Amino acid sequence: MGDRHTEGAWNMKVESRFGSYEISFIKLTELWGYLPENCCLVTDSNVVEVIPGLKERNPIVVPAGEESKSFDTYRFVVTELAKRGVKRSGSLAAVGGGVVGDLGGVAAASYMRGIDFWQVPTSLLAMVDSSVGGKVGIDLAEGKNLVGAFWAPKAVLVAPECLKTLPERQFKAGLAEVLKMGFIRDPELLNLDRENPQPWIERAIDGKRQVVEADEFETNGLRATLNFGHTIGHMLESRANYQGILHGEAVAIGMVAEAEFGEYLGVTPAGTAEKVREVLAENGLPVELPTDLNPTEALKWLQLDKKSGTKTLGFSLLTGIGSCKLKSDIEPSQVLEWLETR
Ligand code: GLY
Repeated sequence: MGDRHTEGAWNMKVESRFGSYEISFIKLTELWGYLPENCCLVTDSNVVEVIPGLKERNPIVVPAGEESKSFDTYRFVVTELAKRGVKRSGSLAAVGGGVVGDLGGVAAASYMRGIDFWQVPTSLLAMVDSSVGGKVGIDLAEGKNLVGAFWAPKAVLVAPECLKTLPERQFKAGLAEVLKMGFIRDPELLNLDRENPQPWIERAIDGKRQVVEADEFETNGLRATLNFGHTIGHMLESRANYQGILHGEAVAIGMVAEAEFGEYLGVTPAGTAEKVREVLAENGLPVELPTDLNPTEALKWLQLDKKSGTKTLGFSLLTGIGSCKLKSDIEPSQVLEWLETR
């Protein structure tokens, strides 16, 4: 776990091939002092209203919601960077949830072939997952996160006070990623105390740090296991055209479904899916696949997943509560059969 340098302060170093970077818990009032002078800020239409001092710093504001992880919004952000005269020596800080971090990261990774990037996650989901590890991306109509890069931040600045302004639905969606870490690696995270979030936020971030340090560019199968629930979750988001369902909600439904699929394949011990369902439902998350899901249509989306090979599909499957493995030799017919008979 991270070092506690001073009372209330907490830092964790992430080793990266881009250079190591710190994840620091900070107070919101201190935020501006951590960022470079003239750092260009990217945020969304909700966050700009709730973070003190943000609006006054003339941020680039994109519409709130997954729809902003699009080429149009990306073009808007990089065009704004150019209009504002941001140089190659300039920097960009993404102040917001996962959408702003992913979108801002793609802009930072590509504008002038890459400028310095800072992550300031304001949602639970961004704090425990998307801001750590350098993955940035935008969506295509054909599938989620299909365009992007690895672009590690200079630092991740976490102000837990931001959570006070987070709508309940968004908070629960973030819990899905914490619970995912519990299911795949660290069952202690399954008994979290909502009233005292900092210890389990630290623990979840540390789990993510360990994984991304061991497999930064997703080459040895470990990082891909973080995708538990995401293969089906991304399919649900894509088929809904990124509307009406939050990423964490889609992942929650995906985790139950993938646990069931793992049981069907004989990889996941019987009874695991029921436990996954119970924990997620207790935390107020959705757990049922849509009743109108068409198996053939679902399979088409699933085949565009980045873990898919030319003929096979890849899933991160539980081998118990607290352990998982990447299975990348799944035949499309196995997915179809399961979806048709479940
Ligand atoms: N959110 C999954 C990853 O960072 O690999």
